[in-house]
Amino acid sequence: MVHSSSIFLALASSALVTARICIDTDVCLKVTTQNAQFSFPTLKTNEQAADLQFQFALRDQEAVQPTGYETVTGNYTINARFCTPDTPGANSKTIQILTHGIGFDKNYWDPEVSRSNYSYVDTALAAGYSTFFYDRLGNGKSSKPNPNTHVQSFVELEILTQLTTFIREDAIGLGITPEKVIHVGHSYGSILSNRLAVDTPELSDGLILTGYGHNFKWMQASLVAWGFEIARLQDPVRFADFASEYITWATKWSNQFFFLKYPFFSTEALDYAEEEKGPVGLGTLWTIGMGDFVASGFEKPVLIITGQYDLPFCGGNCTGVLESSEPYFPNSTLSIVTHPDAGHGINLQFNAQDAYKTILDFLEENL
Ligand SMILES: *[C@@H]1O[C@H](CO)[C@@H](O)[C@H](O)[C@H]1NC(C)=O
Ligand SMILES: *[C@@H]1O[C@H](CO)[C@@H](O)[C@H](O)[C@H]1NC(C)=O
Ligand SMILES: *[C@@H]1O[C@H](CO)[C@@H](O)[C@H](O)[C@H]1NC(C)=O
Ligand SMILES: *[C@@H]1O[C@H](CO)[C@@H](O)[C@H](O)[C@H]1NC(C)=O
Repeated sequence: MVHSSSIFLALASSALVTARICIDTDVCLKVTTQNAQFSFPTLKTNEQAADLQFQFALRDQEAVQPTGYETVTGNYTINARFCTPDTPGANSKTIQILTHGIGFDKNYWDPEVSRSNYSYVDTALAAGYSTFFYDRLGNGKSSKPNPNTHVQSFVELEILTQLTTFIREDAIGLGITPEKVIHVGHSYGSILSNRLAVDTPELSDGLILTGYGHNFKWMQASLVAWGFEIARLQDPVRFADFASEYITWATKWSNQFFFLKYPFFSTEALDYAEEEKGPVGLGTLWTIGMGDFVASGFEKPVLIITGQYDLPFCGGNCTGVLESSEPYFPNSTLSIVTHPDAGHGINLQFNAQDAYKTILDFLEENL
């Protein structure tokens, strides 16, 4: 990957919420990376999207192998929210950078459906930490460039790397020069955080990888079972900004199937996840697991916490699966936790707060 020089500017507006101080900001980044080239299928109709589902299910994965690489440059706006406790304490100079997974946006970390049940942000703030959470490229209020050629994992890793560098220098104007920076991910956000610890281990003081593992063999079948629809055909109003190569699953029942283990969630939580869902581009799906994941140069603490019934990373049963992550962090204090009564979308299960307690206790003990 080629690292680029970068420009940014920050436009801040304040949104004051009880017991926390939050700043909403747009960060402008210039990103140059070597992106993969593929023979992407045409995607204009849902017949073509269903055929894409077939291509994805094929036992022979030729279609998703790169045909080459090209240098791609883009200027992107990343929308983020920074929250810090209203009373600064010992932990508030530790900034946690939260990267959401596919199918959500940054509100995964701070869902409006019931913040007291589900907000990781509020729980981390109550433990004194500051949090920076952002819409990944192609999601929420961030730029939605070409989903084939631009929104690839290489670009998203470079964005996370640049954001981290700027946060460390207080170059975004958050008003805090952090003493420590922790990377917290969910699913694809964990993939990106893991990749950052491989390429630039000096940028992170710890990893919390949720909804994650290193055995990718169930990923394909899990994604195929979503059903693929062109997002802007499914909801022309909500997904008006998305090119037709951004797809989404068919119904909220697919959402449940992939993210939430029955009966450990509320109707409100599932409805919220479906109302807030974000589409995914083909370039993301095609490059999701590319790159090196062995973080031998990383010596800071790592926690992997994954729902017992996680579908994409455990094939629906994590017993005996997550241990395969050990070789990926040979020089870290690694803790692996199978979180009970939960599927892939831990933050929207009833016992989300128990997972948050595990995470914050881990940080308290190991940071
Ligand atoms: C990105 O922005 C810079 C500075 O504003 C400009 O010079 C450059 O041409 C832009 N590049 C692209 C690919 O839009
Ligand atoms: C990390 O672990 C690997 C494999 O166990 C080892 O070869 C290497 O020397 C260790 N240290 C660093 C800084 O990479
Ligand atoms: C999960 O896998 C373990 C180990 O293979 C097995 O003993 C257990 O019965 C499985 N649980 C379920 C619910 O299938
Ligand atoms: C919040 O958690 C309680 C206890 O688990 C549960 O009964 C309730 O349905 C949850 N609320 C929402 C909106 O999910």
